[in-house]
Amino acid sequence: MTLSSNQIDDLTQTAIQAARLGGAILQDYSQKGFTIHSKGETINLVTEADLQSEKTIIQLIQKTFPKHQILSEEQGLQDIPQHSIKWIIDPLDGTINFAHGFPMYNVSIGVEYQGICVIGVIYDPNKSELFLGQQGRGASLNGKPIHVSATPKLAEALLVTGFPYDVHTATDNNLKECCAFTLRARGMRRTGTAALDLCYIACGRLDGFWELQLKPWDTAAGKVIVEEAGGKITNYLGEPYSIYGNTLIATNSHIHQEMIEVLQLRESNTR
Ligand code: IPD
Ligand code: CA
Ligand code: CA
Repeated sequence: MTLSSNQIDDLTQTAIQAARLGGAILQDYSQKGFTIHSKGETINLVTEADLQSEKTIIQLIQKTFPKHQILSEEQGLQDIPQHSIKWIIDPLDGTINFAHGFPMYNVSIGVEYQGICVIGVIYDPNKSELFLGQQGRGASLNGKPIHVSATPKLAEALLVTGFPYDVHTATDNNLKECCAFTLRARGMRRTGTAALDLCYIACGRLDGFWELQLKPWDTAAGKVIVEEAGGKITNYLGEPYSIYGNTLIATNSHIHQEMIEVLQLRESNTR
């Protein structure tokens, strides 16, 4: 069974409404202030805004689709029976940026149907940019179709990456890869928001993105947006990307093989 066109429209409308609602909550907290706690590693933070955005988004989805599964970063998997549709939510992607008043963060909402990401909505409340990807229907930014860049080779590419929260202690911490790419590409950025990194690949502002240890809520929505914008997304070995896997490369497709080759130089090559 596949989803009907009306079902896709209904899911999309709720995802957009929820992402905008979450974004408004983040902006409200950024004005009035918020409490911050660290979870586990001292650099891994959670703020009142993460929690309130998540609560509001989940309430809206449950009101509209009470039987659907929900996986979100702070609350985890909701304790309801298995369903073919699963919502995957990052209520605030870019918490460290948010906590420091650095205006680059977003709300990310992905919808999985029978284990495949079919809808992705990512909302950046600072730039009022809403990215949407729908399987088989393309990707858009504020309603206008988007496409990945045409950059043909790594030497001309602007890349982006991120670091896992155990970067201070882990040996597999992405620093060597960062040096290798800095010496090969035109430029290298670290935005602190994996979901927007994927959106920026999709709309051609960036050409290639690699990172390890991302979580399903970081990439569920962005995966659909990149794929529907004509991009390529795999693990470090070039195999199909799973949002539950460990490594990710997302590119405009043209520089994908070159990025895989650089990452093959890693001592431990993992999926
Ligand atoms: C983080 C951001 C960051 C990435 C981290 C993520 P959070 O998400 O996306 O760019 O490097 O791996 O955990 O914690 O701000 O939602
Ligand atoms: Ca995140
Ligand atoms: Ca988050």
